[in-house]
Amino acid sequence: MAKRVEATGVTAYYGSFKAIDSINLRVEPKTVTALIGPSGCGKSTFLRAVNRLHEVLPGARVEGSLTVDDENIYDKDVDVTAVRRMIGMVFQRPNPFPTMSIFDNVVAGLKLNGVRRKSVLQDAAEKALRSANLWDEVKDRLGKPGAGLSGGQQQRLCIARTIAVEPQVVLMDEPCSALDPISTLAIEELMFQLKDLYTIIIVTHNMQQAARVSDRTAFFSIEKTGDPGRLIEYDNTQKIFNNPSEQKTEDYITGRFG
Ligand SMILES: Nc1ncnc2c1ncn2[C@@H]1O[C@H](COP(=O)(O)OP(=O)(O)OP(=O)(O)O)[C@@H](O)[C@H]1O
Ligand SMILES: [Mg+2]
Repeated sequence: MAKRVEATGVTAYYGSFKAIDSINLRVEPKTVTALIGPSGCGKSTFLRAVNRLHEVLPGARVEGSLTVDDENIYDKDVDVTAVRRMIGMVFQRPNPFPTMSIFDNVVAGLKLNGVRRKSVLQDAAEKALRSANLWDEVKDRLGKPGAGLSGGQQQRLCIARTIAVEPQVVLMDEPCSALDPISTLAIEELMFQLKDLYTIIIVTHNMQQAARVSDRTAFFSIEKTGDPGRLIEYDNTQKIFNNPSEQKTEDYITGRFG
């Protein structure tokens, strides 16, 4: 079940350094939203604030509110583990658990959630691997190490691992930046299929990719080094790429800046 994500006044710090300032962003269910902007403007910081991964770093904190449907995930009584289960994340570098088999990688989250029954795990693994467009390539080698797959396969394995627990929101931080064009296309097609089920937020430096995969695009930027990242413009992807309202957005997407 995809859910709406709404950030209101989200500000994040690393110690005394303010990395993003007062981000307001509403992401509708069953859409892909792309976060774009120059290096250091806070895209990853924002993404990690959305599943409460930011606060894991010593001295890091978040202000503001972040609701998923109507639940504020920063409320005091919220179970952080449950939040991270509901909001899955895929990272820039494929990071399968190196010593685990392909099968164990996919079901790792389910096992953490207490699922033990072999048949349930098998069905879930097949379903997740099929959704990640990886099943046919690995079905005869599920017991082999996940680390033995190609980079693109490893990234799809990580996506399978993320969706196996049936999250409501999937965050992807430059998921294709370590991949070749064919693997990239496979992941983009996958995003297209997955958005029927999940709310997807993707960070990308690839403008063509943002234009291809996303419904909405958010452009983040910083004024100058040391300033916090701000949301400059957020609109339908078509509008952002064809007729942005802000000069800064236009400068960025046409390559005049950043
Ligand atoms: N662990 C950290 N400790 C201190 N400052 C950090 C940390 N991680 C990021 N920052 C700073 O926070 C700001 C935002 O960084 P962030 O990684 O969110 O940017 P980004 O938009 O994802 O950049 P990129 O496109 O290069 O990935 C930058 O100034 C960065 O140097
Ligand atoms: Mg980043």
